[in-house]
Amino acid sequence: MKIIAANWKMNMNFNEINNFFNFFDKNRDFKNDRKVFIAPPFVYIQYVKDKVNKLNLSFEIGAQNCFYEDKGAFTGEISVNMLNDLNIDFVIIGHSERRNIFNEDDYLLNKKVKKVLSSNMKCIFCIGEKLEEREEGKTFDILKKQLENGLKSVNNVENLIIAYEPVWAIGTGKNATNQQIEEAHTFIKDFLNKNVANNLPILYGGSVKPENITEILSCNNVDGVLVGGASLVAEKFYKIING
Ligand code: PGA
Repeated sequence: MKIIAANWKMNMNFNEINNFFNFFDKNRDFKNDRKVFIAPPFVYIQYVKDKVNKLNLSFEIGAQNCFYEDKGAFTGEISVNMLNDLNIDFVIIGHSERRNIFNEDDYLLNKKVKKVLSSNMKCIFCIGEKLEEREEGKTFDILKKQLENGLKSVNNVENLIIAYEPVWAIGTGKNATNQQIEEAHTFIKDFLNKNVANNLPILYGGSVKPENITEILSCNNVDGVLVGGASLVAEKFYKIING
């Protein structure tokens, strides 16, 4: 089974979502070893869920972020309880845009990961090195630190999914090479097997598109992909699902 996850980021509106699902209403031939996930912006989650139910598409719907407190005076935040109320399937935590633009650190992300895993939703926890870190030969140190700190004292790990997203490959059109992907995924898998649990899925993210999906999915220890830009265009996302 390969997970093909769409991260819509801060994109799409009602009209664009309608067009997206009109396409999927007419194009429903999916390889049967594919599991499709979609993470719309918060305000469209319910709408997308209703669409998927109405069209009888077996896509899992999730959120791109959440806060770790249950409720209270946290203006602008969304709790795990609220997401649970929508009956959704997963939450993405620690995307590099959350880390770098919104300054979310490992300590905060660890609280969020634990909170999501305490619900029955899956948690897609994102890690990845920046270009300068790779160039300085620090890739594995960074991945280790992000895994150690982000997953400190986690329980209920059966719902944990890791996404390896090298920051320099996100939105740049420049995906990591097969060798870079396999090295990183093997490192992550070894860490997880030793310290967390065996056989947790590891997704690759960063400039995944119809042209490179088959090659990326053929890499060792790649259990799926997290797709940004190319997931906004139904035709492209369909090709990626079936890649
Ligand atoms: P991209 O984004 O596919 O546009 O590179 C991937 C991601 O940020 O998850």
